[in-house]
Amino acid sequence: MTQLRHATITGTGSYLPERVITNFDLEKLVNTSDEWIRQRTGIRERRIAEDNVATSDLCVRAARWAIKNAHINPLDIQMILVATVTPDTFFPSTACYVQKGIGAKNASAMDISAACAGFLYGLDLADGLIRSGRYDTILVVGGEIFNNIVDWNDRGTCVLFGDGAGAAIVQATDEPKGILASYIGSDGDYADIDLLGIPAGGSRMPVTQEAIDQKLDKIQMNGREVFKLGVRLMPEAAQRVLREANVSIEDIDLLIPHQANLRIIEAVGDRLGVPREKVYINVDKYGNTSAATVIIALDEAIREGRAKPGDLLLLVTFGAGLTWGSTLLQL
Ligand code: UT7
Repeated sequence: MTQLRHATITGTGSYLPERVITNFDLEKLVNTSDEWIRQRTGIRERRIAEDNVATSDLCVRAARWAIKNAHINPLDIQMILVATVTPDTFFPSTACYVQKGIGAKNASAMDISAACAGFLYGLDLADGLIRSGRYDTILVVGGEIFNNIVDWNDRGTCVLFGDGAGAAIVQATDEPKGILASYIGSDGDYADIDLLGIPAGGSRMPVTQEAIDQKLDKIQMNGREVFKLGVRLMPEAAQRVLREANVSIEDIDLLIPHQANLRIIEAVGDRLGVPREKVYINVDKYGNTSAATVIIALDEAIREGRAKPGDLLLLVTFGAGLTWGSTLLQL
């Protein structure tokens, strides 16, 4: 059956805090080296928000750019989805703070908790809601401030993450373009906080002095296991949308994978058979901004002219949960 109504991205935006933390800065904090970090992760520097800044502040700035680039009024937005694992507060949702910040009075607002896969979860939801005919204009945001949830004494994690936000306006179109296929998945068998997560602070384990002393309110991660899972799951997810849309990998103009580690990115590109020049990389500048990586990368690719109208883009990601997702997008 021919699909008459599609969802398409009409504007993107991103915002990165100005404060840069280089690998050399981290050498002064933990027993690490610029050489180790670059060789094992590809990261050279990351951005860190100032102390009085919240995740929604970054999201609002990114969203304002997306609104401007989509040439819409904030009052046109009918729903706001914010993907984050570092919300301003447990509740109200970060999406409600974003709503206030951009003046989108006509929208409903909620957060999505799907870790690094969160932005593509949001895009998938927006796609379904728009194609159903119930919505015409949805703002999808991915934003994080990892600064406060990273143990700055743990060299295994503190070198990896950064702060930032990206946003997309998703709108209905009758043209056969936009989101051509979308897929999200998860496997709760891997919902293990030792694999990747924060043990304390939720209903299972409140934040007590003991938990703080044991750093249980900070990110725990088994890097090697997460690495292997990412290299397996992202190509599988990407192939799924290609199959669904009957598109060959050779037709892809740009692959935009989750930016966690350059070695993971290159392995995913190699497994899919995408030449290096068609793989978008900015992990060197920003590290892993979790739910924000893919949309920050998409926004930059558009601004740099590496993703142009008509181009076929393949977005793919994975994260704690486990969660994963992929989107085939014609700009
Ligand atoms: O969005 C998803 C979130 N997470 C990820 O995607 C992370 C995925 N995993 C990774 O990116 C990599 O596993 C890491 C970058 C975290 C680690 O790289 P690795 O090549 O898997 O190293 P490793 O964990 O096997 O550690 C090798 C060595 C260890 O020393 P020993 O035991 O061999 O003496 C570590 O203690 O490197 C040591 N090491 C470090 N050395 C210097 C670990 N972190 C550091 C560091 N600086 N920052």
